[in-house]
Amino acid sequence: MKPSILVTRAVFPDVVARLSEHFTVEDNPDDHIFSEAELIQKLQGKDGLFANPADRISAALIQACPQLKAVCNMAVGYNNVDVAAATAAGIMVTNTPDVLNETTADFGWALLMATARRVTESEHYLRAGKWQKWTYDGFLGADVHGSTLGVIGMGRIGQAIARRSMGFDMQVVYHNRSRLTPELEARANNARYLSRDALLQTADHVVLVLPYSAAVHHFIGADELALMKPGATLVNIARGGIVDDAALIAALKQGQIAAAGLDVFENEPAFNPAFLSLENVVLTPHIASASAPTRRAMANCAAMNLIAALSGQTPPNLLNPQAVK
Ligand code: DGY
Repeated sequence: MKPSILVTRAVFPDVVARLSEHFTVEDNPDDHIFSEAELIQKLQGKDGLFANPADRISAALIQACPQLKAVCNMAVGYNNVDVAAATAAGIMVTNTPDVLNETTADFGWALLMATARRVTESEHYLRAGKWQKWTYDGFLGADVHGSTLGVIGMGRIGQAIARRSMGFDMQVVYHNRSRLTPELEARANNARYLSRDALLQTADHVVLVLPYSAAVHHFIGADELALMKPGATLVNIARGGIVDDAALIAALKQGQIAAAGLDVFENEPAFNPAFLSLENVVLTPHIASASAPTRRAMANCAAMNLIAALSGQTPPNLLNPQAVK
């Protein structure tokens, strides 16, 4: 008998078809968002879970689903899964690293450019029919070329963002849990390691790409924003919760920093409505990895992990090898 799996949210039909070759699949083409109780009920008798980064796979859910053997997240980030609880229960957890590095780095740059050069703010002005004449000081922004880029979280995506800065003749400073090797620093446009606070004082444009954990909750709050240069910009393509959104709103209102570009929010898809009243913020709905080829690659990567996990192999992107020892 084929193992049974749940695909929690709508995903590419051909990926569901691929999964169906190996498993009895319960999918969700209508993209209904299940409550935790509904998820638990649907997971009874299921061996595997193809999860979406918006699904919360809590310790309570894990305990309530004793047959579950693998949780395969369609995202590189996995803060939505209680990995410690899964490990204790002998459940494999996987993510989708690498396939989204370049696309996510591209989007970090899209937000950086839009934020520094006031792209959406000026488009809103044009669309509102307010553009009557060219003015010497209309929508003056910050230069990107020749400026200093600060990357917080210098993993593979952070390094891809830093590499792109070569074309803009930028200096790169970075902060990371651990320092890169000299070879990797050289490839990342000769990136220079700084403490978080020194980076915030130095960079003209700061991009956050660090993984979320409780240890970095509100890593950028009022005190850190106060360290940034007055004309600086902040981009968050990492996770909501890394920035204290209320503190950021206050800093943007006071013009303490010039502008922010945000793809992720505390409590998304809900977000602090005060952002909507600010012109100096570019807002996007968690789409940094959303190019058609990359989302497909992520879905196939998650499927490949699930197929391996439930056929006695070690999934390529296993996060908790201790679960299977
Ligand atoms: C990830 O992969 O973690 C992204 O944030 C999801 O798009």
